[in-house]
Amino acid sequence: MAGCCDPRGCQELFGPRFARHLASRYRRRGLDATAARIVGLVARHGVDGASVLEVGGGVGDLQLELLRRGAAHATNLELVDAYEPEARRLAAAAGVSGRVTRRLVDIAADPESVPAADVVVLNRVVCCYPDYERLLAAAADHARRLLVFSHPPRNAVSRALVSATNAGFRVRGRSFRNFTHPPAAMVAVVEARGLHASYDERGRLWRVVGLTRAAG
Ligand SMILES: C[S@@+](CC[C@H](N)C(=O)[O-])C[C@H]1O[C@@H](n2cnc3c(N)ncnc32)[C@H](O)[C@@H]1O
Repeated sequence: MAGCCDPRGCQELFGPRFARHLASRYRRRGLDATAARIVGLVARHGVDGASVLEVGGGVGDLQLELLRRGAAHATNLELVDAYEPEARRLAAAAGVSGRVTRRLVDIAADPESVPAADVVVLNRVVCCYPDYERLLAAAADHARRLLVFSHPPRNAVSRALVSATNAGFRVRGRSFRNFTHPPAAMVAVVEARGLHASYDERGRLWRVVGLTRAAG
């Protein structure tokens, strides 16, 4: 199955142009609605002094906002390096370069190489990754307090849209694919690793799910 398990799939789509687009949109308008909802949710759970691990954080805009709200440190994991110049510029402009670590690693394939964090975030990432069980299980195992992820709804409309988009990728010879994984099964994977779903909000396009680990 093609997708981001095969980083070539992601490299085809998430290149320097996409990175410049994300960075310029963030400079002009700040976070988009879904990222802002995630930041709000994390802040409500308490972000002061927290370590943040963001999987597939792109140019790092979401984590910059968490650092602004008091997070101590953010680690970004990516599969592609195209974001790095823009991410460095944004972190420098925010004055937080020393509090950001950026790594190229697939946490699903190499979970042991990644330290745990208080808060783990995946925004619009599970829909790029074929093996959601492996990805979310690894992300959950790294979340000491809170895991938040966003995903597209799974209904007739979203499935038709994703099929049409994937058909377009196929015709153009691209290996990248989008996925509408089953929402309840994604939550079940994380709950099986000891977290409990405490938040599930349907936005216009993206659902945001938050799962907490009981202190112990
Ligand atoms: C649609 S983009 C979203 C970028 C950013 N989170 C945003 O919302 O602007 C998905 C990103 O997830 C990354 N990604 C997918 N699977 C990943 C994995 N297993 N580990 C790290 N990054 C991953 C891709 O490289 C891509 O940059």
